[in-house]
Amino acid sequence: MVIFGASGDLTGRRLVPALFSLYQGNLLPDQYVILGLGRTSLTDDEFRHRMLENIRQFGRKNSVPQKKLQQFATHLRYQQLDSKNTDSYRILKSRLKKIDRQKEAIDNYLFYLATPPQLFAPIAAHLGAQGLQQPSSDSGWRRIIVEKPFGRDHASATELNVQLTAVFAESQIYRIDHYLGKETVQNILAFRFANGIFEPLWNRNYIHHVEITAAEQIGVEDRSGYYDSAGALRDMVQNHLLEIVATIAMEPPVLFEPNAVRNEKVKIMQALAPVQIENVIRGQYIASMIRGENVAGYRQEKDIHPDSQTETFVAMKFQIDNWRWGGVPFYIRTGKRLPTRVTEVVIHFRETPHHLFKYVSGGTTAENQLILRIQPDEGILLKFGMKVPGAGYTIKNVGMDFHYSDLANSELPEAYERLLLDALNGDSTLFARADGVEAAWRFIDPILQAWASDRSIKLYGYPAGSWGPKEASLLFEQSGEDWRYPCSNLTGDDSYCEL
Ligand code: BG6
Repeated sequence: MVIFGASGDLTGRRLVPALFSLYQGNLLPDQYVILGLGRTSLTDDEFRHRMLENIRQFGRKNSVPQKKLQQFATHLRYQQLDSKNTDSYRILKSRLKKIDRQKEAIDNYLFYLATPPQLFAPIAAHLGAQGLQQPSSDSGWRRIIVEKPFGRDHASATELNVQLTAVFAESQIYRIDHYLGKETVQNILAFRFANGIFEPLWNRNYIHHVEITAAEQIGVEDRSGYYDSAGALRDMVQNHLLEIVATIAMEPPVLFEPNAVRNEKVKIMQALAPVQIENVIRGQYIASMIRGENVAGYRQEKDIHPDSQTETFVAMKFQIDNWRWGGVPFYIRTGKRLPTRVTEVVIHFRETPHHLFKYVSGGTTAENQLILRIQPDEGILLKFGMKVPGAGYTIKNVGMDFHYSDLANSELPEAYERLLLDALNGDSTLFARADGVEAAWRFIDPILQAWASDRSIKLYGYPAGSWGPKEASLLFEQSGEDWRYPCSNLTGDDSYCEL
């Protein structure tokens, strides 16, 4: 495995700890080398030392025997590389040949581009110029993993696809979206397609609307340079949220095989109806107090322009134009500096056609909701109405729930573990395909263009630690409808949240 950008955060915090977990689980092959490449000058030993520190700090928190760490470290190598310099790639090629000759790894190369996006195309071109995209034997393989962001609009994503496919075949390209590696996102597929009881309900006849939230408590942290030129729409919606939408909305594939699954997801991306711009609400967090502490507004964050128009919150309503979903609104929202960290999908079922108990007592009806909690307190909750014991017929909503933490082996693997393993095994089911990425951008582009050209479209301020601009609630069509304001715990009773 050859990691470009090996002196960066992603490699240290996510990739190498994930590779170590795979190693601990005996999931890596017997012979392999992890070769880090970066601008910084480091010896193999210095790189090993850094990576072991990262594993201790960012890896899974179970105890790690020193011997295991040392054994893993013997597989780590480093080479300084100027990613725009041809000579660097010649040196890389001879180093890889040497590793092959010494039988430390066998003609299978997985390239990982953990670099700034402007380097994706040049690196691919240099690899191609050295012939490194082609295995030297019939049994060998070459694959390339590309991190996000994949383009910043439809035109740049299409151009990047052209540049990558000029060197690598589509089947060799693995576009990462780490949400797809989350156990709970994969479980949406199992939930929908391994159970018979939900499918008959999974359509416009029984579902009133679908709501998806990806809330973060953190602010922009130390990523101002990237974030201020991206914003929440590009950073979260175009990729993670639309992938969840596609997983919820797709038709059952005929086979559980990469292209069959991705064909169905791409059809959803292509069926996203053009959004009306008044159905998109954008916001930016402003300074506030959270639990007694002053929290800076987005524009006061380090290296953010004091007049920045970048959105840190997006909420929108749209439709999917196909038979299953015709007329069912999808509501999605994401934001930084919201009250809690939570990602969940809420399926709101239609009410009963006749409210039998409405005039008997209490005037309440049941709210049937199915909540697929992606993180934290991962699990599933089904809400339904029951009769409150005693006189009359007062209906109360109760929840039936499953929490992953109840499982005996409850530690969920990190998304990167699953995705790296799948890429090593040549399984691209959980990776985005060129046509899917382009279709997602085609949906997002008109929003970006409207925001860039129409200054009358408001960017609402919202206090850090709140649920975003109140205008997001106006997206709902009927009075009494609103977003769910979930707690970090998945409970049937959200009237009190420990945030
Ligand atoms: C990344 C975004 O892709 O996903 C970040 O660039 C965001 O801005 C992160 O914080 C959220 O991931 P997770 O796994 O913490 O929900």
